[in-house]
Amino acid sequence: LEKEILAGIAAAADEAALEAVRVAALGKKGTISDLLKSLGAMSPEEKKVNGPAFNGLRDRVQKAIVAKKSELEAAALNARLASERVDITLPVRPEPAGSVHPVSQVFDEVVAIFADLGFAVAEGPDVEYDDYNFTKLNIPPDHPARQMHDTFYVAKQADGSQHVLRTHTSPVQVRTMLNQKPPIRIISPGRTYRVDSDATHSPMFHQYEGLVIDEVTHLGHLKWVLEEFYKAFFEVDKVELRARPSYFPFTEPSLEWDIRCDRSGGQIKFGTGNDWLEVAGSGMVNPRVLENCGIDSSKYQGYAFGGGIDRLAMLKYGIPDIRSFFESDLRWLKAYGFAA
Ligand code: PHE
Repeated sequence: LEKEILAGIAAAADEAALEAVRVAALGKKGTISDLLKSLGAMSPEEKKVNGPAFNGLRDRVQKAIVAKKSELEAAALNARLASERVDITLPVRPEPAGSVHPVSQVFDEVVAIFADLGFAVAEGPDVEYDDYNFTKLNIPPDHPARQMHDTFYVAKQADGSQHVLRTHTSPVQVRTMLNQKPPIRIISPGRTYRVDSDATHSPMFHQYEGLVIDEVTHLGHLKWVLEEFYKAFFEVDKVELRARPSYFPFTEPSLEWDIRCDRSGGQIKFGTGNDWLEVAGSGMVNPRVLENCGIDSSKYQGYAFGGGIDRLAMLKYGIPDIRSFFESDLRWLKAYGFAA
């Protein structure tokens, strides 16, 4: 009997077959269980002989089953490991990747270049006090210069105060001067808004504002800073800038800066050609603005400049229409290599 059972255990191909062998031998009605039960009807002498023999048989069979079981489990695990192996040398499936928008790229570059020139970043809100956007910058209500800004007005607050969508980043000059003592050297990039839309104007656009206030500053400093900035931005040794006298209520004197480009044939190309694209307004900070913001104009002077970030992106990447930046057209972004 023992030989027969042990052979059955050895032959079991899986755990179910092994279990069947176990039940047939050790189950309630199994062969070995029957033998053990038969002990009850035996005489003491017979029990003495058969008891240890039957129990020994049961123990050996049990041991053999446990051993076989762990052998089968190990084999099953190995088979599973083999079947679930991952081939890590397979190339991955391509996934559409996001990318940084060209305006955001230029935004970051502008900040990085001015940071190298020693400017700290300052920020202000898009919804701005009319007072900071205009009045403190020497543009009181009814001042004709307000017409230069096609302003989005926000409904009056309960307390009667007027807010606007800032038309330029210049209110950050005001916020900075109200909160800091000179020397001041800040750059402030951000969103700006005007009721205007054509190839070089978008109702929402981006500007950067520079402000330097110290005891001795002059237009030569301003020109140097702008030149260094444009050289770094366009990665060239020399840039052709054109300064035109201009007018801003918050600077005196005021200058506007154009950069040489080619705008023929629906294209825009930086550095060559006979066209000029206006890239920045600037000037010496009007002493009235210094006084409006609590800075002693007999001791301090400053210069300020502000330019369009989207315009820089147009020039850098040769994009003729500013509005295409904000149409969120993936095909357009792909065509210019801005998205995968
Ligand atoms: N804020 C002006 C504009 O948006 C630009 C400017 C900034 C001019 C700083 C002078 C000084 O047109």
